[in-house]
Amino acid sequence: MERGNQSVVLEFLLLGLPIEPLQQDLFYALFLAMYLTTILGNLLIIVLIQLDSHLHTPMYLFLSNLSFSDLCFSSVTIPKLLQNMQSQVPSIPYAGCLAQMYFFLLFADLESFLLVAMAYDRYVAICFPLHYASIMSTKLCLCLVALSWLLTTVISLSHTLLMARLSFCDDHVIPHFFCDMSALLKLACSDIQINEMMIFILGGLVIIVPFLLIFLSYARIVSSILKVPSSRSIRKAFSTCGSHLSVVSLFYGTIIGLYLCPSASNSTVKETVMAVMYTVVTPMLNPFIYSFRNQDIKGALRRVFSKQMANFSLGQ
Ligand SMILES: *[C@@H]1O[C@H](CO)[C@@H](O)[C@H](O)[C@H]1NC(C)=O
Repeated sequence: MERGNQSVVLEFLLLGLPIEPLQQDLFYALFLAMYLTTILGNLLIIVLIQLDSHLHTPMYLFLSNLSFSDLCFSSVTIPKLLQNMQSQVPSIPYAGCLAQMYFFLLFADLESFLLVAMAYDRYVAICFPLHYASIMSTKLCLCLVALSWLLTTVISLSHTLLMARLSFCDDHVIPHFFCDMSALLKLACSDIQINEMMIFILGGLVIIVPFLLIFLSYARIVSSILKVPSSRSIRKAFSTCGSHLSVVSLFYGTIIGLYLCPSASNSTVKETVMAVMYTVVTPMLNPFIYSFRNQDIKGALRRVFSKQMANFSLGQ
């Protein structure tokens, strides 16, 4: 080692949430409740879609994948946060930190790509209703999901490998509640130029390109509705696209709020609030956005539960 202040990092300290010690218990209960709601809500969606054959359509299979991604995404950060809120020394081992960063990026990017697949599905359903079944075949759906996994694996692996070659100085304190990539880069002692360049390039690939593709799909949907405007076609489009559009707005709204809004006086607090928004709140709300006023999901709930009740009474 050339520089004296470089040492082998064994662990990092996670500062956690900027809250008073007195409020610690309140926030612990709040985050635990939100985490359990996320797990239960998303599991319910996955199980319901698997059990009810009416929901074996591309849209709901993508939704089931999205719920799986939400479930994993919140499990990457919240359990560790809860554990650290209870411990005296909120540390995370070096390897654990890199693993957390890898899985965080993996499921965040997966979500972004799945939202594109869902937008394409809505575009085909509304613009080519007669050819929907032949275009959105099982094979194409599987390909889209596999492609999303492949892209997200390559992207998060390259960020993580680039991070692994950096050396860190004496400061091992991460002013965040999880191993955030940009917070880690600030602690690095070596040259981070390549890392920053990759964040710029790959960030564009996972945020700007999906956003443009989704925007394009909706532009085509709107123009196809405006060609033959009828209250029936507008209502149909709203009922099938509404939930997807809400999830997209929530996802990109947080990103835009984080990067484009003028920075508040206290940027650490703002960053933490935004990070809580996308790690805790968004994965929790997605299943509810999809179930709210959705007749298919409500019907499936009724069918699955009445079947279970029937099985139960037959078994008696
Ligand atoms: C994800 O989507 C694929 C393709 O539509 C489907 O076969 C698979 O069951 C889905 N996986 C989950 C966990 O929902």
